[in-house]
Amino acid sequence: MKGLFLKHPVMRKLLAFGLMAGFTLALAEAFKVAPEKYRGWNHVKSMVIFDQKHPLFNPFNGVHHVYVNNKGLEAIKRDGEREFPNGTVIAIVFYEHVHDNGAYVEGAKRIEAFMVKDRKYKETNGWGYFAYDGNGNNLVKDMAKDCHACHSQVKNKDFVFSVWTK
Ligand code: HEC
Repeated sequence: MKGLFLKHPVMRKLLAFGLMAGFTLALAEAFKVAPEKYRGWNHVKSMVIFDQKHPLFNPFNGVHHVYVNNKGLEAIKRDGEREFPNGTVIAIVFYEHVHDNGAYVEGAKRIEAFMVKDRKYKETNGWGYFAYDGNGNNLVKDMAKDCHACHSQVKNKDFVFSVWTK
């Protein structure tokens, strides 16, 4: 039965397509770090984007925190020209900002995003970009368009905006 199924040319095409789609999906979601892990890294900075007038309000509104692993620590402390070593991972996590009696506190998790320095990401100057919504769904279709284009504003800082809060 299985042999017959595979001999059918349309079925073969469908199967090949399914495998390819599955493979692309696997590639697209290949990288994720657990909160328990990145929250044990180095905290770089935090920020609250609470008003429409901020250019990042849509989609990056809320409270966010940035963390870097030990590999990238020295570079992120350098403001201006810098180059992150292979193996650097930077995490940014966004939460809703909830008004609480004169304070903004963290609400539900909105986005988790990662930048990974690896030479294999040739088209995006050695950075891999990954992002997920609060339910863990992949948000990146095209690293170059969805992420790297905007990060190219800070090419001179090796595409990383964040600077260590002193
Ligand atoms: C419209 C511009 C824009 C787009 C698009 C964008 N980013 Fe960013 N990203 C920023 C800015 C600005 C910061 C710095 C935030 C801060 O100062 O706290 C940042 C910060 C980050 C950081 C922390 C390291 C750093 O550069 O400061 C990561 C990780 C990150 N973004 C990943 C992504 C991923 C993954 C995508 C694609 C889904 C993406 N970004 C799309 C503007 C953008």
